[in-house]
Amino acid sequence: MSQFKAYFQNINGEDTYPLTDVIYRSKVDNSLLEVHHDREALASRSPEEWKKLFAERRMSFKPADQSGIWSKREMVLPDMPEEDIVTMREGWSPLFDASILARELGMKKLSVKLCGNSHTGSFKDLGMTVLVSQVNHIIKKNIHPIDAVACASTGDTSAALSAYCAKAGIPSIVFLPAGKTSTAQLIQPISNGSIVLALDTDFDGCMKIVQQVTADNRIYLANSMNSLRVEGQKTISPEICQELGWRVPDTVIIPGGNLGNVSALAKGFEDCMAMGLIDHLPRIIVAQAENANPFYQAYTRGFDQLVPMQAKKTLASAIQIGNPVSYPKAVRAIQKTNGLVVSVNEEELANAAHRADRTGLYCCPHTGVALGALEKLRAAGTISADEEVVVISTAHGLKFTEFKVNYHEKQLENIVSNFANPVFKAKAEIGPVMDILKKEMAARRR
Ligand SMILES: Cc1ncc(COP(=O)(O)O)c(C=O)c1O
Repeated sequence: MSQFKAYFQNINGEDTYPLTDVIYRSKVDNSLLEVHHDREALASRSPEEWKKLFAERRMSFKPADQSGIWSKREMVLPDMPEEDIVTMREGWSPLFDASILARELGMKKLSVKLCGNSHTGSFKDLGMTVLVSQVNHIIKKNIHPIDAVACASTGDTSAALSAYCAKAGIPSIVFLPAGKTSTAQLIQPISNGSIVLALDTDFDGCMKIVQQVTADNRIYLANSMNSLRVEGQKTISPEICQELGWRVPDTVIIPGGNLGNVSALAKGFEDCMAMGLIDHLPRIIVAQAENANPFYQAYTRGFDQLVPMQAKKTLASAIQIGNPVSYPKAVRAIQKTNGLVVSVNEEELANAAHRADRTGLYCCPHTGVALGALEKLRAAGTISADEEVVVISTAHGLKFTEFKVNYHEKQLENIVSNFANPVFKAKAEIGPVMDILKKEMAARRR
C-alpha cells in the first residue's frame, strides 16, 4: 500500500467512497464525485524531491514511467498495482513552440500543447488509461463483476475507450450521434471491435441512454462524469509546468464542450500548488463554439445557472454539446483562476485553425476554437503582448480531414477561407510550371 491516499468524494466533502466502488454520483446530494487526494501526504515530500523523481522517470524505460500519466502515479491513482496498469505510453505530448504564430499575433511567448499526438489522436487517451486500468484492476482482483465498459461520445472518447479496452481484453460499447462524427473517428471503435451504436439523436441524447445502460453497475460508465478520467487528464498541467522548467504560464486556453477537460486542467494546477511544485495558478480561458455555447451564455450572466440548449451543428463537432455535465466544476475552475469564457463563430474557428497550420501545426477544429479565442483576445488587448500563453490542442488534425479539405476547396458554407491553399493544375511543361512558381513564391515571401 502506498503512503499516498485517494478516494471518491462529493463536491462538499460530506461523503466518501473507495475508488474501486462502481459509483459516479454522491448518495447524499447527487453531485458528481471527484477523486480526492490526501494533499497533506503529497506535501510531506518536498517539491525538490518530487521534481527529481519526475525527472528520473522521464529517463526510465519502464512502460508506466514512460506514460505522462503513470509517471505521476502518486497524484493520479496511488494504490494502482503496476501489473494492472493499461498503458500505451500516453501523455508527454509535445509543447509546440509556436513562435511564428506568436509573431503574427504580436506576442512573445506562445506554445501549443499537442494532446492529439497520442495513440487514438486526442487527449481522451490521458483519462482513458486511468479509467480502463481501474476497471482492469477491479476485474482482475475480483472486486466487482463488470461485463463491459460503455460511453456516449462525439467521437474521440469512443476511440480511446475502444482502444484501451481492446488492449486489456475488456468488452466495450459506444453510443455515437448518427452522422455527427468524422469518418476517421467512427472507424476507430469499429476497428477495435467495440459494439458501436449510432443513435438517431445528438450527444446529449446518447448521454441519457448510456446512463440508463450503466444503471445496474455491471456495465461501467466511461464518460467524464466518471472522475477517474479527470485524474488522467489533469496531468496536462504538471506536464506543461515541467516542460517549462516548473514555470507557470500566465494563461492557458482550452476548448470546452462537456467541460470535463477544463475541470481536469484546473485540478492539475491546484494539485501542483498543494505539492509546492508551483506557487500560483494560471488564468484559464475556456473557448466555446458559438453554435454550442451554454457555458459562455452562463458566464455572460455571471454564472447564475446553466441553461441547457439544443446545440447547433458546428465544425467543432466534438464540442457540439448543449448540456455539459461538468458545469459546476468548470465554473469553479474559471472563478478560482480569474478566468474567462470566450465564444468563437464558425468562420473564426476555421480561419484560426488554418492560419496556425501555415506555421507548422495541423489543427483540428476544436483547437481552432481555442486559437480563435486567442486571436480575439489579442485583438482586444485582453491578452497582452508580454503574456506567456499555452493553447491546449485537443485532437490531431488527421482525424478531421473533411474539415480541412472543404476549407481549402472553399466548400465550407458561409465561410470565407482566408488561408485556403489551392492545388494548382498545370500542364507538365516547364513554362507554365515556372509561371506558377514565380507568382506563388513571391506571394509567400515573409
Ligand atoms: C477534440 C475535442 N476537443 C475538445 C473536447 C471538449 O472536452 P470536454 O468535453 O471535456 O469539455 C472534446 C470532447 O469531446 C474533444 O473530443
